[in-house]
Amino acid sequence: MVKLWVRDVSVLPFMSKSARVINNLLISTAGVKIVNANEFAVSGVWINRLIHFAKLLEMVKDVEGDVVECGVGWGKSLAILGLLVKHSDMSRNLWGFDSFEGLPHPTDEDSPESSRYAKQRMFGEATERAVVTNLSAVGLDDEFLQSRVSLVKGWFSETLPSYGGSTIALLHIDADLYESYKTTLENLWPKVAIGGIVAFDEYHLRMWPGAKKAVDEFFADRPGSIEMLKSTVSSHRYVVRLRRVSLSGINSSGREEQALDVAHTAVHGRHH
Ligand SMILES: C[S@@+](CC[C@H](N)C(=O)[O-])C[C@H]1O[C@@H](n2cnc3c(N)ncnc32)[C@H](O)[C@@H]1O
Repeated sequence: MVKLWVRDVSVLPFMSKSARVINNLLISTAGVKIVNANEFAVSGVWINRLIHFAKLLEMVKDVEGDVVECGVGWGKSLAILGLLVKHSDMSRNLWGFDSFEGLPHPTDEDSPESSRYAKQRMFGEATERAVVTNLSAVGLDDEFLQSRVSLVKGWFSETLPSYGGSTIALLHIDADLYESYKTTLENLWPKVAIGGIVAFDEYHLRMWPGAKKAVDEFFADRPGSIEMLKSTVSSHRYVVRLRRVSLSGINSSGREEQALDVAHTAVHGRHH
């Protein structure tokens, strides 16, 4: 069946009440279904994000672990990640963390502009229910949603410490603010697999300086643990978790060893 995506069904007044009847008619006669795509209409941004995430998942194709997103909003990026996870060879679960009450209070590390949005509780209208609807709208079936996708509602400081998934192959942070980034990294970095990736939605954006500050501070305390890379299709930045072995140290059996520096970029090389 062909799906006809309509950006906003409110522009089609007949859709509100009779959508199902009309759709049934269209499905049976023309094999066409009108879908309310809202924000999910295909756009250049959406396609770039799809390619960006597809490349990241290709880089971690041999890294076991789940895909986690902190900052779900209406589920735009989660929908892309869901589609990619569904069609991936590796069986992974997908996690989405969000307050579903909008952004939390900003801190002094955030810019006046981003603080203003936070104080207005930007994204406060997004609900888990709407996200599930949107994930279904892109073609993720109920069985997949129920068995592989977990949406966790609450503030990161309360939900992330008890993250119950496996190691993380790909962590996507799209949480705008300094504290939100910091809390995410503090809680989930220890779960990121060697060769795993942490991708940032706002690192490169001047409007959300708290994101970059939190990331830079966090990894400044962990020298040599990452390689920071830039997407080939957008300005997004991401880090690959490196294996760290000190040049000389004590191994697990207490014997002094001359260890190799086996820090490596993700198995599949750089992604410039
Ligand atoms: C930019 S939106 C996410 C957009 C989404 N990834 C997309 O592609 O449409 C940021 C989201 O992060 C959530 N968020 C930010 N900080 C949070 C925190 N500390 N705890 C819980 N949710 C948080 C907000 O509720 C908001 O929905």
